[in-house]
Amino acid sequence: ADIHGAERKNSRGINLNVRSQWEPFERALRVQLEHRWQATPLVDGQVLAGEVHEVCSPQDLDRVVGTVWFAGVELVGQAMERLAAAWPRWNATPVEQRAAILERLADLLEEHRAELVALCILEAGKTIQDSLDEVREAVDFCRYYARQARLGLGRTELRGPTGERNELFYEGRGLFVCISPWNFPLAIYLGQIAAALVAGNCVLAKPAEQTSLIAARALDLLFAAGLPKEAIAFLPGDGPALGAACCADPHLAGVCFTGSTDTARLINRRLAWRDGPLVTLIAETGGQNVMIVDSTALPEQVVKDALHSAFTSAGQRCSALRVLYLQNEIAGAVIGLLRGAMAELLVGLPQRRDSDVGPLIDAQARQALLEHVDTLKGEGRLLAEASLPAGLSGHFLAPVAFEIGGIGELRKEHFGPILHVVRYAAEELEQVVAAINASGYGLTLGVHSRNEATARRIEALARVGNLYINRNQIGAVVGVQPFGGCGLSGTGPKAGGPNYLLRFVHERSTAINT
Ligand code: SER
Repeated sequence: ADIHGAERKNSRGINLNVRSQWEPFERALRVQLEHRWQATPLVDGQVLAGEVHEVCSPQDLDRVVGTVWFAGVELVGQAMERLAAAWPRWNATPVEQRAAILERLADLLEEHRAELVALCILEAGKTIQDSLDEVREAVDFCRYYARQARLGLGRTELRGPTGERNELFYEGRGLFVCISPWNFPLAIYLGQIAAALVAGNCVLAKPAEQTSLIAARALDLLFAAGLPKEAIAFLPGDGPALGAACCADPHLAGVCFTGSTDTARLINRRLAWRDGPLVTLIAETGGQNVMIVDSTALPEQVVKDALHSAFTSAGQRCSALRVLYLQNEIAGAVIGLLRGAMAELLVGLPQRRDSDVGPLIDAQARQALLEHVDTLKGEGRLLAEASLPAGLSGHFLAPVAFEIGGIGELRKEHFGPILHVVRYAAEELEQVVAAINASGYGLTLGVHSRNEATARRIEALARVGNLYINRNQIGAVVGVQPFGGCGLSGTGPKAGGPNYLLRFVHERSTAINT
């Protein structure tokens, strides 16, 4: 066993094209798709009251998925008090026991896979494949952090002068607020919580407003796995209001946030101006992700990987491809194939196995993207567009590709199925990378080139967190492609990597003169 997980295994999925795997799963899924769920604020295991919200499916606004009771801000102080009181006990719980809870949770997630997939589909509008991948990633995070904690959070002896014993060991920092996004409502939500808990912190979990139901269900499973109820509080509700109250709370030790760069900035400002202890911020934010394609690349492979990277999850991934840079010599061939392939994309209900692209999360997201689409269409830049079947009533947007002059034209991240294509000349390669760096984001970068020296040159010049060469650039695998960027894309450390837990601990050293 080593810290990089030589003996580690990732969770297995279901092959939707193999009937013996798909049919039993489909039967279980069909039952779960009929359910309704509930989410309430929880402090110390006590159900608390809140403002009632009905949750409708992004793909079918008439389908009520369940009811959420949004927590009022007054619950933040109450939750933090209780967590502070519980923290010494949780922090003193051996790492071994904390890790075992995560491993039991991983098993329970797999056991309840059909229900969790149904929730991902109905509440978040994720396709079946996306939803299965989401459950797998959540399982992987739990097992990976459990393992990393066992391997890395023990007590070590450091060499010092004769007659002195020197030890390094780790504790939780205290109370972490985990603020998670709707686009990975299970995997990122649980990844944050699992890391914070196993490192010895108590947690206030604040899920995205849009996806509280799946978060609540995952919490039930966490309790079933043996987590003491006092170690976590769950406050679904309004992000800005609850976030502000959390940031001001004197018990706060850390914030783990995944979401937009703007919100990360706001949190950072609030933390800077508060009184009391200095607070750790871990933020994983947006991207303006590029794929660079030179003339040696294989056009078919480029189109397959570009489509997958740009339109999986309806483009609602921070890792998603936004700007495809094509060297002039290959641009015509790639664009031709891209047009054909986009015409084949099936936009549809996420519960249908043949849907490639599901809905956007809500009307507001769709409206913001439509404005960008209308502007670019108005400027005559349309290259290709998928079709939108009639009869869909949810927040759907057909994948679309535009030609633009460069990444510098994009003033912000467009979080949806919109691909921008740019042509460049061979001698401009370094300028292309400089323009990517100048965007300020630094999350994923794809390179398609059969010339390894070119790929390595780009690697050396680009300021990104995750580089993918001759493949797609989404779906980082826990423990294999540790995920996270720099600059406007986040603070690090990388989720699903060997250094992640260290940001959640307080390091201590004791010197004993014997
Ligand atoms: N980790 C995800 C991916 O790699 C994005 O959050 O696609």
